[in-house]
Amino acid sequence: MDQKLEIIKQNVVECTKCDLCKTRTNSVPGKGNFHSDVIFVGEAPGKNEDEKGEPFIGIAGKKLSIVLEEAGISREEVYITNIVKCRPPKNRVPTATERETCQDYLKQEISIIKPKIICILGNTAFNSLLGGSEIIKFRGKLVRKDNQLYFLTVHPAATIYNQELIKVLRDDIVKLFELITELKNNKDIQIDIDYTS
Ligand code: URA
Ligand code: SF4
Repeated sequence: MDQKLEIIKQNVVECTKCDLCKTRTNSVPGKGNFHSDVIFVGEAPGKNEDEKGEPFIGIAGKKLSIVLEEAGISREEVYITNIVKCRPPKNRVPTATERETCQDYLKQEISIIKPKIICILGNTAFNSLLGGSEIIKFRGKLVRKDNQLYFLTVHPAATIYNQELIKVLRDDIVKLFELITELKNNKDIQIDIDYTS
């Protein structure tokens, strides 16, 4: 692993900056390939992640692995992380304060990995990173903000009991990797929403 990422990981493991440290079993640093073209950003660790200290290893994580595999991508090729790195009690949505307190870790992950695209999984990441809401209306779209590209899709947990949404996630992930291929080939790609002034 990259040395700087290793330091972030260690800082996350030891972090006591917000109250979530009091109820967690383990912090959950990001995990994956630091040469990845894409960083996937979820909300927060759940029960399984809290127990093992690894992101997206429960049912939602399985859904993510399946759609990645269907698109011909293995989890080891990409980097996966969350807005907050410790589990909120009863899986409640992390508060604005918790998200703000934790945000430097994600910023550091992004600045080291320098992904071509950040893939936002669900409303919490959408709101935290782009101030957005109602991701279902914007999913499948490519956004540019401050020279960084973001791709929007639904949270894998939302697909667990919803067959329509699994199709949405599957189609979006295929599109995401098509966009990455086009970027690598220096093709012009269509930006759907541009916040660049
Ligand atoms: N849901 C998330 O948002 N992140 C995880 O790591 C697991 C479930
Ligand atoms: Fe630190 Fe983030 Fe965990 Fe809060 S959620 S204790 S800021 S790592």
